[in-house]
Amino acid sequence: MTTAAHVPGRTAPRPAGVGRAPHSPFDDRRALRRVDWGARSSAAFYRSLEAALEPRIESDPMDPVRNPYAPGAGQRPPELAGRDRELRQFEVVLERVARGRPERSMVLTGLRGVGKTVLLNTFRSMAIQRLWGTGKIEARPDQSIRRPVAAALHMALRELAPRHLAPDRIEHVLGVLKAFAQADSDPPAGRSGRAARGGARWQPGIEAPAVRGRADSGDLEIDLVELFVDAASTATDLGVGIALFIDEMQDIPADDISALCTACHELAQNGGPLIVVGAGLPHLPAVLSASKSYSERLFRYARIDRLSRGAADHALTAPAELEGVEFGPEALAALYEISDGYPFFVQAYGKVTWDHALHSPITAEDVAIAAPEAEEELAVGFFGSRYDRATPAERDYMRAMAALGDDPVQTTEVATSLGRKPSSLSPARDSLIKKGLIYSAERGTIAFTVPHFGRFLRRQPD
Ligand SMILES: Nc1ncnc2c1ncn2[C@@H]1O[C@H](COP(=O)(O)OP(=O)(O)OP(=O)(O)O)[C@@H](O)[C@H]1O
Ligand SMILES: [Mg+2]
Repeated sequence: MTTAAHVPGRTAPRPAGVGRAPHSPFDDRRALRRVDWGARSSAAFYRSLEAALEPRIESDPMDPVRNPYAPGAGQRPPELAGRDRELRQFEVVLERVARGRPERSMVLTGLRGVGKTVLLNTFRSMAIQRLWGTGKIEARPDQSIRRPVAAALHMALRELAPRHLAPDRIEHVLGVLKAFAQADSDPPAGRSGRAARGGARWQPGIEAPAVRGRADSGDLEIDLVELFVDAASTATDLGVGIALFIDEMQDIPADDISALCTACHELAQNGGPLIVVGAGLPHLPAVLSASKSYSERLFRYARIDRLSRGAADHALTAPAELEGVEFGPEALAALYEISDGYPFFVQAYGKVTWDHALHSPITAEDVAIAAPEAEEELAVGFFGSRYDRATPAERDYMRAMAALGDDPVQTTEVATSLGRKPSSLSPARDSLIKKGLIYSAERGTIAFTVPHFGRFLRRQPD
């Protein structure tokens, strides 16, 4: 059997004006269908399967299986483009903290889908490479950070333990950590029965016996300071540090944020090598400074933004090059135009364009053909899933915002356009902020946390 015939248009130029068949996994299935299913032995079956697939695997650079792009929350991109400055800054932070030098930790802020989680995870890998102990939490509204912090520090200490020469010191800190975890006053989330009624203590899975009288007062501020100081001292013994990564940091309840800042402040003063590295929405600095005025001296805020044209091109071309695929200059220009440089969109449009393209180099026409499908996917996954979480009143509020344009808008303007009193809209606005769909940009103004959300809403039927 010949396989070239299964890939129409792949070798011959496509006749002008004829819509191309999208290249999709179905092409592979078509090839499979032509395999001689009647082959008697399995060896013969696999030989004919190989014959069907090999030319595609070996010689087809546009194979969807090899599509390198990765649209998805927290998904590691094939190329981390345009973040060299932040990576260099974090290198310096790690080095200085491990040496006991005064240094502000970093907090990444930015809109949805700009790559905060991915960068936070990269920072974590950098810390691990330097043999630091690391742990990560994702904050949730209305959930105390005590247990997640306990679990994350447990992980960090387990990373350090095998290299520590004084096992009793590790054992002691684990005992303090256990006491800290058990000092939680809330019942375990989602559990019922004895534990929820306060009959049993939460078991954090630490074997060491709990150490009494340290980090177990029940006051998070006092307990975090003691726990951080003790944990940091074990890292000092090893000449490394501990990094606690907190994603969605704006969701930490106000009391806990304040306790966390105090603990970081305390550590910064005594030079303990433990840092908290955060990521969150653009209003996170405002949340932190409302809690503690000195928070600006604790953290260096790095605003993570859209990629420049050069970085967005690189995000697309570098992974393609590894697969022997090129982009034409017009294709890159078209992709930048529609993605606006937002990393999530770069990955989403890049992925669908690859699947639709027939040949390398990928052309602007490939982009034009792929764009509607990519938009549809974004409408369901990226925008729709968020829109669905809003109540009817919240949707009205967001639509009114969208109608006023893409820049941050005055809350009073939203009220006027809805013919309502601003105070009557506060519940809808506050709950949208809590859901992470909008944020208060400056005093009295609000904006969408999701790029291009206004445009999406304006296209929705009423
Ligand atoms: N520097 C980058 N270069 C190329 N692609 C990137 C880059 N950073 C992130 N991406 C891609 O962008 C998408 C979103 O990344 P990520 O989930 O880290 O964003 P986020 O800012 O954490 O979003 P959210 O606020 O919704 O949590 C992922 O598909 C990721 O692969
Ligand atoms: Mg994220």
